[in-house]
Amino acid sequence: MRRHALFAALGGLAVLVPAALAQPRAYTPGPQNIELPADWHARFVRYSTIDNRNRKIIRNIYINPEAFAALQPGQPMPYGSLVILADQRARLDAQGTPLLDANGRFIPEPAFIGINVQQKERGWGEGYGPDLRNGEWEYARFSPADGSRLSGPLNACFTCHLQNRAQQDFTFTTWDYANRSR
Ligand code: HEC
Repeated sequence: MRRHALFAALGGLAVLVPAALAQPRAYTPGPQNIELPADWHARFVRYSTIDNRNRKIIRNIYINPEAFAALQPGQPMPYGSLVILADQRARLDAQGTPLLDANGRFIPEPAFIGINVQQKERGWGEGYGPDLRNGEWEYARFSPADGSRLSGPLNACFTCHLQNRAQQDFTFTTWDYANRSR
């Protein structure tokens, strides 16, 4: 009887202990690893803004402030880097040509039309083949309307960043920003 009670108690503990010690979840590759922080727009640092003439869009690129502070020339991006590429339409004249502000820059329409994200964490990337793997980076797309994660293929994200930027830790503007002369 005592033995029984002890087993019951231990059984209860066995259920409780793993939850209490809460190991990090096992990593499986995919965009579900990336969360878009609700406060990204207010909190993140916009370190680059590109007027894209062909697409008539403005590409705003933001990074979390912790990673921004840790950027170093010649070094890989810090773990915990969360980079957000948020596009806006350029305001157009009646002919469909982008209007320019006093500095010759495009004038954004208020809404975001696309949110592409890149995040790097220690141990990520395991499970992608050599034709796709971008070091320890994952990619994801989010709805500009409600911030929900979008489904759909992401292979093009991996291949383009891999083919063009393997030597720059798979980033374009982030590496360039960290390595520009200041
Ligand atoms: C054909 C090449 C190509 C593809 C495909 C592509 N990117 Fe990029 N990406 C770029 C370039 C080039 C930039 C730099 C910004 C610019 O010039 O538009 C960039 C910039 C970024 C940035 C900002 C950080 C940085 O590296 O500069 C993020 C985040 C990003 N891309 C995520 C994605 C995601 C997510 C996808 C897939 C949904 C994707 N990219 C697909 C070429 C590509």
